[in-house]
Amino acid sequence: CGIIGIIGKAPVTPLLVDALKRLEYRGYDSAGVATLVNGHIDRRRAEGKLVNLEARLKAEPLAGTIGIGHTRWATHGKPSERNAHPIATDRVAVVHNGIIENFQELKAEMEAEGRRFDSDTDTEVVAQLITSYLERQMSPEQAMGTAMGRLRGAFALAVLFAGRHDLLMGARRGSSLAVGYGDGEMYIGTDALALAPFTKRVSYLEDEDWVVVRPDGCTVFQGKTEVKREIRQTGLSGAMMGKGNHRHFMLKEIHEQPAVIGDTLHSYVDPATRTVALPALPFDWNKVSRITMTGCGGAYYVCMVAKYWFEQIARLPVEVELGSEFRYRAPPLPEGGVCIAVSQSGETADTLAAVRYAKAQMQHILAVVNVPESAIAREANVVLHTLAGPEISVCSTKATTTQQTVLLATAIAAGRARGTISAAEEARLVAALIELPALINEAMNMEAQYRGIADGVLAEARDVLYLGRGTSYPVALEGALKLKEISYIHAEGYAAGEMKHGPIALIDELVPVVVVAPNDSLFDKTASNFEQVKARGGKLVLLSDSDGVKRLGPQSVATLTMPAIDPVVAPILYTIPVQLLAYYTAIAKGTDVDQPRNLAKSVTVE
Ligand code: G6P
Repeated sequence: CGIIGIIGKAPVTPLLVDALKRLEYRGYDSAGVATLVNGHIDRRRAEGKLVNLEARLKAEPLAGTIGIGHTRWATHGKPSERNAHPIATDRVAVVHNGIIENFQELKAEMEAEGRRFDSDTDTEVVAQLITSYLERQMSPEQAMGTAMGRLRGAFALAVLFAGRHDLLMGARRGSSLAVGYGDGEMYIGTDALALAPFTKRVSYLEDEDWVVVRPDGCTVFQGKTEVKREIRQTGLSGAMMGKGNHRHFMLKEIHEQPAVIGDTLHSYVDPATRTVALPALPFDWNKVSRITMTGCGGAYYVCMVAKYWFEQIARLPVEVELGSEFRYRAPPLPEGGVCIAVSQSGETADTLAAVRYAKAQMQHILAVVNVPESAIAREANVVLHTLAGPEISVCSTKATTTQQTVLLATAIAAGRARGTISAAEEARLVAALIELPALINEAMNMEAQYRGIADGVLAEARDVLYLGRGTSYPVALEGALKLKEISYIHAEGYAAGEMKHGPIALIDELVPVVVVAPNDSLFDKTASNFEQVKARGGKLVLLSDSDGVKRLGPQSVATLTMPAIDPVVAPILYTIPVQLLAYYTAIAKGTDVDQPRNLAKSVTVE
């Protein structure tokens, strides 16, 4: 899931491991590095976390001034040392993100030629294919170019060649890859974060690019044609990657929310006039008949919240689609419709594929992304950036709430353009947005209470149900997702009214119910569902404001009193307590908060 390659002047292994640490956040289950020692490929690999690789390197150090490294999130072949990257032959070592879809066909072809495979990975066909071309006297450049033509699927690659201390190659189709420019040193990496301490001069490869990297520069090709890719200065610094005073990135990122929501708002609203200002759009909201929203994981739930906003504020019909389902259902879409893709990384393979499907259906593509150079950003007609800064914790927090912020601003803009809200209503909604950072601050400053509920109720649970109505329903889904991701406790989010159609059967002492109930027009309805759980002896945790807590608090085992808030922005505010409950439950369980097992930050495979 993370790639690094370095042509250096000094021993390169410590730098490779360092870069892998910065890529850890993407999630992985094995890791490895390969270098050239006297022209020969040598490598160290280990299952599990980087500490295991470091222990291997301590026992058996690895010299060399050129090398590649990888953190792997298993797709083909279980996470083991044998399947860890770099995958090597005596001629090349390869690291790879993504999936080679035709690997079986290629493997059969090469096995028929008498080649023996050492791993269960799809990656090995790349190593074997390039090796077979080198053995046929092709140059490394010819071998790489020819191999690119044979590979199907989505991938990023870095390749090290035996005997070539001056050469690395990379390729990108789908998965991200960047080249970093140093002083007589060159780098390849999955993202600018991996390269940040080495260099700020970076160029991003585009789809189908492959690159020949030498100590003094690089040449990029598309097929056989040489192309130029601009060198940019990244604003990232090593410091942005630190945890500050926080124990985990997740907690740091939760606490950054007031600031990054404030930054994001600066780009989308004018606090003086209380109006929304979006970038210019290539369509007229009045001519839009339908919006399709798409995303995966937490981003999908953000789309579900935004559906209410677009429907209520702009009176626009909205369909919300899982990235992984959308294109396979191949729904008809009205020409000139708008597709909004929501993705922190901008690289999620299913969301990207959904965007491509929508584009083919003549939709205008709006991308709400956090990574400006990402594939989804590049394919969109308009990019609405979330200014969350790098999000390192696998479990998304500040990306989610900044996405919500941007989408509410967009719904307000659509409402104004369509005349479904007045200037006074726009001013009220913008005021509610502006108030958010301060109220989020308040909601965060209750650590003892979050801890108390996590330790006393949730950590002991067998399963946890989260209930909510209206925009609180997706917040309930988000709360359940966060809890299962990092505490490994099974949890489900449910529309409060649906609880009696099934999940109520689960309720007992070991299945607490977290009710997300801001004081909105649906509060009374949710209160009835609350009573239904209570009547069955269920343990209730209530999230509401002081009025709500006054009404239902006495029947709850625990309450969290949120500041009173305009119901329109309640889903943004109420996302904070469900994040913190998950966080402190994970702490109580002693799990790996920032890198939960089996999960990846950015899922670039289908
Ligand atoms: C992964 C992450 C989730 C995230 C989802 C979508 O599953 O673990 O936290 O919500 O991908 O990622 P994206 O980058 O598209 O927002």
